Amino acid sequence: MSSSAMRHLISTAQLTDTELGNLVRRGAEFSDGRVRAGEQLAGLVAGIHFLKTSTRTRTSFSAAALRLGAKIISFGPDDLQTNTGETLEDTAEVLSRMLDILVIRTAGDPAHLHALASQQRMAVVNAMTADEHPTQAVADLTTLLSHFGRIEGLRICYVGEGNNTAAALALTLSRFKGVHLELRTPPGYGLDPLVLQRAQANAMDAGATLVELHSMTSPPEKLDVIYATRWRTTGTSKADPDWMDVFTPFRVTTSLWDKSPEAVFLHDLPAHRGEDVSAEVLDGPRSLAFDQAENKMYAAMAVLEWCAGRS
Ligand code: CP
Repeated sequence: MSSSAMRHLISTAQLTDTELGNLVRRGAEFSDGRVRAGEQLAGLVAGIHFLKTSTRTRTSFSAAALRLGAKIISFGPDDLQTNTGETLEDTAEVLSRMLDILVIRTAGDPAHLHALASQQRMAVVNAMTADEHPTQAVADLTTLLSHFGRIEGLRICYVGEGNNTAAALALTLSRFKGVHLELRTPPGYGLDPLVLQRAQANAMDAGATLVELHSMTSPPEKLDVIYATRWRTTGTSKADPDWMDVFTPFRVTTSLWDKSPEAVFLHDLPAHRGEDVSAEVLDGPRSLAFDQAENKMYAAMAVLEWCAGRS
C-alpha cells in the first residue's frame, strides 16, 4: 500500500477524541442504515490473521471488508514463517508490499503488533491483544450511540474481570462528558493500575467519573447499561484453583435490575450462561448483546475505512 493516509489502530489511546467520536458515529451510521455498504474499499486487499480463536471479530472484519468491496486473505495460526523464526519486522516488510491492511489477533504482548506496525505502507489493526481490545470498544460505543442517541451522560456498570475489553471501555467511555463508569471487578482480577490511572485522567479532563470497586454488596443504582464479560477471556485458565469462588458474586442476574429497571444489558460474548450471566438476562428483553455482536461488523467497516484513509 502506498497511501500516505494509511493509519494503524493498535490502541484507542492513539485516537484523538474527534477521531474516536467519528469512528463511533460512522459505525452507528452503518448500523442504522443511514450509510450503505458499497465500494468504499474497492481495490484494497486485507489480510486477516488470527493466532487465537474468534467468532465475532474475525467474521466481522472479514464480512466488513468484503461488503465494502475489498478482497481478503485469511491466515491461521500455523500459516506464516514467523512460526519458523522469520522476524516480525521482515514479515511486516513483505506483507506491506502486498496488503493494504492487516487485521491481527494475537491475544498476547502488544509488542508483536508494534513490530508489525513499524512500516507505513500497510495499516495494522489490533483485533485483540492481552492488554486491549480496541475494536470491541468501538463496537460497544456504536451500540450505545445507536440505542441511546448519545454516549454523554450515560451511567454504565461493567461487571467482571478487568480484561482487555474492560481496558478498552475504560479508556474510551472516560472521554465522554458526564459518563459515569463503574467497574465491579473481582478482587485480584481488576483493571491494570496504569490503565485505571490513564482512564481516570481522561475522566477528569472530560467531566466524566470512573470508579473501580471489588465488591457487589451495595449494587449500583440508576444505571442505563449493565455490561458483563466472559470469566474465561478467550478460554484462558486461571492459576488460582478457587478462582470461581471469587467470581461467583459477580454473576450478572436479574437482581441487578431492582435498582436500574430501565438498564439495557451488554455482553462482549462469548457468554457462558449460568456463569458470568444468567440465561434470563442474556436472553431477556433488556439484552442488546446480539445487536452488539452485529455492530462489530459495522464498527469494523468504520475502522477499515479510517485505517485505509478513506474516511
Ligand atoms: N467479543 C469478541 O472478541 O468475540 P470473539 O472472540 O468471538 O472475536
